[in-house]
Amino acid sequence: MSQPVPLKAIHHVEFLVGNAKQAAYFYRKAFGFSQIAYRGPETGYRDHASYALQQGSVRFVLTTPLSPDHPDSEWLKQHGDGVRDIAFHVDDADSVFETVTARGAASVIAPKTFEDRGGATRQAAIQTYGDTIHSFISTNDYDGPFLPGFDPVDGDEPDVDIKCIDHIVGNVEDHKMDTWAAWYVEKLGWHQFVSFDDKDISTEYTALRSKVMASETRHIKFPINEPADGLKKSQIQEYIEFNRGAGVQHVALHTPDILRTVSVLRERGVEFLRIPDEYYDTLWDRVGDVDEDRDEIKRLNILVDRDDTGYLLQIFTQPVEDRPTLFFEIIQRHGAQSFGKGNFKALFESIELAQEKRGNL
Ligand SMILES: [Fe+2]
Repeated sequence: MSQPVPLKAIHHVEFLVGNAKQAAYFYRKAFGFSQIAYRGPETGYRDHASYALQQGSVRFVLTTPLSPDHPDSEWLKQHGDGVRDIAFHVDDADSVFETVTARGAASVIAPKTFEDRGGATRQAAIQTYGDTIHSFISTNDYDGPFLPGFDPVDGDEPDVDIKCIDHIVGNVEDHKMDTWAAWYVEKLGWHQFVSFDDKDISTEYTALRSKVMASETRHIKFPINEPADGLKKSQIQEYIEFNRGAGVQHVALHTPDILRTVSVLRERGVEFLRIPDEYYDTLWDRVGDVDEDRDEIKRLNILVDRDDTGYLLQIFTQPVEDRPTLFFEIIQRHGAQSFGKGNFKALFESIELAQEKRGNL
């Protein structure tokens, strides 16, 4: 067993996008993020523009390369808009990097110092599934707005109540789930929190398998999915084809008040998966009493599930780009630590309807 490497939290998630200026507007106006900082030509960085946004403890960075020879341009050509980096905040980026590369993790960026008038950070990065990376960032000597090179921006106040990242899901190729689950155990010293097989996650047509990997303290959870054989094409396979390989499928955002949050997101134009009315016919027999208003739950198309420690409410957006790849989940937990297993069937049937419309089922 590998010793867990000390990770404090997810520092930020970086998305490579075709037009970061417009993407930043979308995450601000639709999802209620506030812009906190900017790095680009105006701040002395000629080859890219990056917008740092925050809501609760969730920080997103939207980056666009400004020339075709920038390596990020090839990434974008292959994958389209999506998650490039799930960056970890650590105390000592050098020692974490040294440990994980000694365990065989592939280096992407060897530790280096970034500095500006706000101080200095040490940053390094390793490769995980697909063309996704994990940065390690230590900020003990930095006191600026976000990271060196970024200038502060006076953002608007967020009015959507998103507090933190609940989990981030990766889709990997057929028969690669075990390899990547083992990677998190061997390289980062994580453990398997729970797993689902194709008997748990299947409909009449499609199936997938999933293992949920968790950090030592379980504050960070990364489920990893792979497609399973079904009569028709798994949604995971559709993702793999359009993403040109493995990558981040969804980021789950935690809110303490999902009814209000989803109402606001809907008003602001965020598109969610449509759940058939029949789902609600048997729901309350299955999950029992909840504090939230049942009619509102149905009206907003929110899913509910219960496990032995409590219940959870969740909802999934449509993909947020034209390729059927990355989407978001909004989740509220009342004790439940699970991932909505009781909703898998309804959810996947809803995704299949969307897949069919795209001609990809
Ligand atoms: Fe999820």
